[in-house]
Amino acid sequence: MEQRRALLEMLGPVRDELLELAAVQRGDVLLDVGCGDGLVGLGALERGAHVVFSDISQTCLDDCRAIAGGEAEYRLASATDLGDVAADVVTTRSVLIYVDDKERAFSEFFRVLRPGGRIAIFEPINRFGLEERKSSWGFRELAGVEELMRRIVAVIDRVQEDAGGLDAMIGFDERDLLRLAEEAGFVELRLTLIAEVLRTPLGRTTDWNVFLDSSPNPLAPTFREAMEGALTAEEIERVTAVLRPQVERGEGSTRFARAFLSGRKPG
Ligand SMILES: C[S@@+](CC[C@H](N)C(=O)[O-])C[C@H]1O[C@@H](n2cnc3c(N)ncnc32)[C@H](O)[C@@H]1O
Repeated sequence: MEQRRALLEMLGPVRDELLELAAVQRGDVLLDVGCGDGLVGLGALERGAHVVFSDISQTCLDDCRAIAGGEAEYRLASATDLGDVAADVVTTRSVLIYVDDKERAFSEFFRVLRPGGRIAIFEPINRFGLEERKSSWGFRELAGVEELMRRIVAVIDRVQEDAGGLDAMIGFDERDLLRLAEEAGFVELRLTLIAEVLRTPLGRTTDWNVFLDSSPNPLAPTFREAMEGALTAEEIERVTAVLRPQVERGEGSTRFARAFLSGRKPG
């Protein structure tokens, strides 16, 4: 419950913006694709929508049902095959990054919407900052350990590629989202990109061990695993001497981008 509250505090503004973009009205049938533990759908319920929670994970649907009970509907379905639903609004947050066939997902969003229905989408744009992450992992100073860092990052990349799904996560940007929505038939499209270049503690921590045990996404190894996979004990010592003080001082640069997209199916 504590974790849920903390998450809501962080993501509540994104959820509210998404529901505003979708112009959710009391009585709308809202399909939340990839509902997770209900961030968006539960917010829509509070606004009086009739919510259809949809996800490929039964556990997620069960978690939503535990909160919303008989007030809502629950569908075990992929974004690329949404089944038999007729919705006024489709929302989705941080789900397309897991979907390989995004074109199919957009055509499903279009299909299940009634004429005049709205979409509102939020996705992280992980391609932004990719070059920086590949070359320095966001460290500002690599004095003499550039080659060791390149080897660590190469291991992180390889593990992610072997796990599959890397292309779904980084192989698109905001322009692709706009194009896919337009090609699916949506009109009145609006895209907002928020891109930030921040001086932030890497891995959001100043504790070296917490940093070592963090990973950028569920497909990636931890920094510790990557370092141990790429370097000898002596090389780990050298790289630690350069990186650790920067983590402990909270020095680093991070590039984040995220996009909101809204549109309408012609009426
Ligand atoms: C990062 S979570 C986001 C959850 C929720 N939308 C939110 O805003 O908190 C990603 C969700 O997408 C779901 N997911 C992954 N691939 C999917 C797919 N192909 N179709 C539908 N849902 C999918 C996962 O099960 C997970 O619940």
